Amino acid sequence: MDKKVAIVTGAAKGIGRAIAQRLVDQGCFVVLVDVDEEQGVLATNELGAEHACFMPCDISKEADVAALFQSVIGEYKKVDILVNNAGILRDKMIWKMPSEDFDAVIDVNLKGTWLMCKEAAKVMRQQENGRIVNIASRAWLGNRGQTNYSASKAGVIGLTRSLALELGKYHVLVNAVAPGLIDTPLTQGLRGEIKQKLIEAQPTKTMGRPEDVANVVAFLTSSETQFITGQTIYVDGGKSIGAGS
Ligand code: NAI
Repeated sequence: MDKKVAIVTGAAKGIGRAIAQRLVDQGCFVVLVDVDEEQGVLATNELGAEHACFMPCDISKEADVAALFQSVIGEYKKVDILVNNAGILRDKMIWKMPSEDFDAVIDVNLKGTWLMCKEAAKVMRQQENGRIVNIASRAWLGNRGQTNYSASKAGVIGLTRSLALELGKYHVLVNAVAPGLIDTPLTQGLRGEIKQKLIEAQPTKTMGRPEDVANVVAFLTSSETQFITGQTIYVDGGKSIGAGS
C-alpha cells in the first residue's frame, strides 16, 4: 500500500464520516470503524473501494480492538494515522444518573480510546512514525448534566498528553481536538428550544459543521505538520473562552 493508511473510529456518520472523507481527499486509504455496520458499509461504498474499507468493531471491547489491528496489519502492513472519534452521550444530572450510564460513557469514550491508542502505539513505535488524533470535547471544561461525559473527555486529554510524552522519541505525534456544538446526528436529537439556547450561547451564534473538525484533523495529520504534539485544539466557535457558563 503506497498510500498512508488511516483508521477512523465512529466513521459511519457525523464527524467521523467527515474526517474519513477529508483523509481520502488528502490521499489516504481509510479504514472506517464503527458498531453501526449498515451505515458504515454505506459510508464506505460512497467513498469507494479503492479509497476505503469498513471493519466493524466495538472499541470498548479489548478483543475486538486486538482483532481489528490484526486485520489492518495483516491486510495493509502499517497504520500511519489513527483518529479516535467514536463517542457516546448519556446525559443526566448526577443525582438522576444510574451508574450504568457513567460506566457506558467511560467504557466507550475513555477506555475505548485508550485501547485503540495502546494497539496503535505498539505498531507506530516499531514503524518509528505515526499520528494519533483523539476527539475530545469542549465539555471537558464542564457542562451541567454531563459529569460522565466531561470526565471521559478530560481523561482523553490527559491520555493524549501522556501518550505524546511516551511516543515523541519514536516520531509519533499525538494531539486532541475539542469540538464544541457541531451539527451531527448526535446533536440533531436535541429538542428545538434547547438547541436554540445553545446556539445563542455561542460567541459566533452558529453551530459548527463536521467539516470544521475534519479540517483540523487533516492539518494535524499532514506531513507538513511535524512539531505539534500533546496539544488540544478547540473547534468550538469560541465557546471555550467563556468556560463553565
Ligand atoms: P455521532 O453519534 O453522530 O457518531 C458517533 C459514531 O460513533 C456513530 O456512528 C456510532 O455508531 C459510533 N460508535 C459509538 N459507540 C461506538 C463503539 N463502542 N465502537 C465503535 N463505534 C462506536 O457523534 P458525533 O457528533 O459525530 O461525535 C463524534 C465525536 O465527537 C464523539 O467522540 C463526540 O463525543 C465528539 N463531540 C461531538 C460534538 C457534537 O456537538 N456533535 C461536540 C464535542 C465532541
